[in-house]
Amino acid sequence: MTTYLDKTAPIADRVSDLLARMTLAEKLGQMAQIEKNSITSDAVNECGIGSVLSGGGGNPTPNTPENWRAMVQDFQKAAAETRLGIPLIYGSDAVHGHNNVYGATIFPHNIGLGATHDAALVKEIGRVTALETAATSVRWNFAPAVSIARDIRWGRSYESYSQDPQLVAELGAAYLKGSQGAALSDNTSVVGSVKHFVGDGGTAWGTTGRYAWVKDWWKTDGERWMIDQGDCLDDEETLRNVHLIPYLAALEAGARNIMVSYNSWDGLRMHGQKYMLTDVLKGELGFTGFLVTDWLGINQLAADYYDGLVIGINAGIDMVMVPFDFVMFINTMQKAVNDGAISAARIDDAVSRILTVKFELGLFDNHYTDIPSIDFVGCEAHREIAREAVQKSAVLLKNADAALPIQSAVKSVLVAGAGANDIGMQCGGWTIEWQGGTGAITPGESLLTGLTKAIPATTNLFYSGEGTFAKGTQAEVGIVVLSEPPYAEGEGDRKDLAFTADEIALIERVRACCDTLIVVLYSGRPRIVTEQLDQIDALVAAWLPGSEAAALAEVLFGQVPFTGKLSFAWPKTMDQIPYAADHDYLWPIGFGLT
Ligand code: GLC
Repeated sequence: MTTYLDKTAPIADRVSDLLARMTLAEKLGQMAQIEKNSITSDAVNECGIGSVLSGGGGNPTPNTPENWRAMVQDFQKAAAETRLGIPLIYGSDAVHGHNNVYGATIFPHNIGLGATHDAALVKEIGRVTALETAATSVRWNFAPAVSIARDIRWGRSYESYSQDPQLVAELGAAYLKGSQGAALSDNTSVVGSVKHFVGDGGTAWGTTGRYAWVKDWWKTDGERWMIDQGDCLDDEETLRNVHLIPYLAALEAGARNIMVSYNSWDGLRMHGQKYMLTDVLKGELGFTGFLVTDWLGINQLAADYYDGLVIGINAGIDMVMVPFDFVMFINTMQKAVNDGAISAARIDDAVSRILTVKFELGLFDNHYTDIPSIDFVGCEAHREIAREAVQKSAVLLKNADAALPIQSAVKSVLVAGAGANDIGMQCGGWTIEWQGGTGAITPGESLLTGLTKAIPATTNLFYSGEGTFAKGTQAEVGIVVLSEPPYAEGEGDRKDLAFTADEIALIERVRACCDTLIVVLYSGRPRIVTEQLDQIDALVAAWLPGSEAAALAEVLFGQVPFTGKLSFAWPKTMDQIPYAADHDYLWPIGFGLT
C-alpha cells in the first residue's frame, strides 16, 4: 500500500511520502487558493490547484444548498482525478452561519455573541454552523475572527466579540472547538481560520494604505477605507497583551489555520512580517498548521508581484489567496524558486503544513461525497439555537419607569423603522452578498413578525417604516427600530457614529404619538445616543441579530428575561473613541439591565 494513501500510517509519514513524489509544479499548486469564478474544474485538474474559495457572495446560480454542494464537489472531483489525487480544500466565510448560502441559518454577528458572554452557546453555534457548512461539502470556514476592535469607527467592529481580550479569547476558542468537533477527521468537522493575524482591530484612523497598483477599492471618500487595513501603531507589549491573546487560546484549542491580516504593524504589512509570522507564531508559539493570506494580500506588499510573493512566502506565508490569476501565481513562484529567491526548503515546509491539515481533515480518506445531509441547512433546530442567541445578545441599556417589559394588557402599539421588517437589515454584512443587502434576501423572521405573534389579540398594532401614523394617533407604546444599513469591511468605516437627521426625525415622529417610547438598535457597534437619550424611555442594543430577529419580541414582552451584557464600552461622544480603560463611558463593558 502506498504510504500516503494508507490511512493507518502516521500523518507525518504520509506527508513525507507524498511530498517526495510531488513535482515543483504540484507543490506550487497546493499553495494556491483561487476564487471560484476565476477557475474551471478542468484547470484545477491540470494545475493541481489545492484550494478554491467562495469570497463574500461567491454563490452558484441559483443560490441553493444543493447547488453549493454540486459546485464544490465539481472542484473536489477534479482534484481527486489528478496524478496523485491530492484532495482540494474548499473555503468560505461562514462568519455568522453559512451566510453566503440562501436558506442557511443566520446567527447574530460576533458583537452580539460577545454580549451573551456564553461560551457554551458560541461553541454550539460553531458546531451547527459546521454541520450546515459541511453539508455543502465545504470543510474550511474563514472564522472565527478574533479581532479586538479598539476603534469602533472600523467597519469590521461587528466581527469582533469584544474589546476585552480575555472574552475574545474565550469565545474564539469555544467557536473553534465547536467548528472542529471531536475529531477534525469527522465529516461534520470544519477547520477554522483564526483571523486576522495580528492587530486587525488596533489600526489608527486615516492610516489605510493607498496603492496605485491594487484595485481601486481602497480609494476613499474621506470616510470609507479610512481605518480598515490600516496601520496598528501599538508597541509590541500592547500587541502581545491585547491582540495576540486570543491566538494563544486558539492554538490551545487546536487551531490548524490562521489567516494573516491586511493591517500593517510598525509600518510594515503583516503579510511581510517574518518576525511575527515565523519567529513568533511558528517559532515561539509553535504553530504547526498553515498560514493563508487574505484576499489579494500579497499584492499589497510591493508594486511588483514577484517581489511581493518573495517577501510574503519568505516571511512565512504558506498558502496564497491569490485569488484570481493562478497562472501568474504559478509562473511567478516557479521563477522565484528557480532564481533561488524562495528556497525549496521553504516550499516543502509550506506544502507539508498544508498537506498535514488535509490529512487531519480526513480529506484523503473520507470520500468527499460522504457528507452530512443537506437538510441540516437552515433546519428548525438550528434556528432555535439562533433564536436563543438573539435573546441572550439583547442588552437593556435604559428602562425608565419600567417601560419594559411591555404589559400584555397594552391596548395599542406602534412599530416604526425600516429595520423592523427587513431581513437584510437585521442580518447586516456578510449575508448572501459580501456587503449584505436589504429586503427578503434569505428566509428569516423580522421583529415585526415576532411582535405580531407575541402581541395579545386584543391589542392594536400599527406598523409604518417611516413612522408616520394616522393624524391624532396616540398609542400607549411606540417601538422604533433604528438600523445601520448593511456594510462589510472598509465600506463600513464611519467617522461619526451619532444618529443621522433621519433617525432623529423618526424618533421624534413616534415620540409625539406614544406614551412610552422604546428604541431597538440594530448596529454593528455602539452608536452615539447621548443627545437623544432623554426622549427614549427604554433602549435595547440588539446588534445584528440575523435571520431570527423575531425572537426579540419575547424579550420585549418579558416572556424571556434580558441577560445580555455589553462586551464593548459605550462612548458618550466620539472623543471616547478609540477605547481607553480610563474613559468615563456612558455604559462600561459588562453593563446590562435585567
Ligand atoms: C476578505 C476578508 C477576510 C475573508 C476573505 C475571503 O477580504 O478580509 O476576512 O475571509 O476576504 O472572503
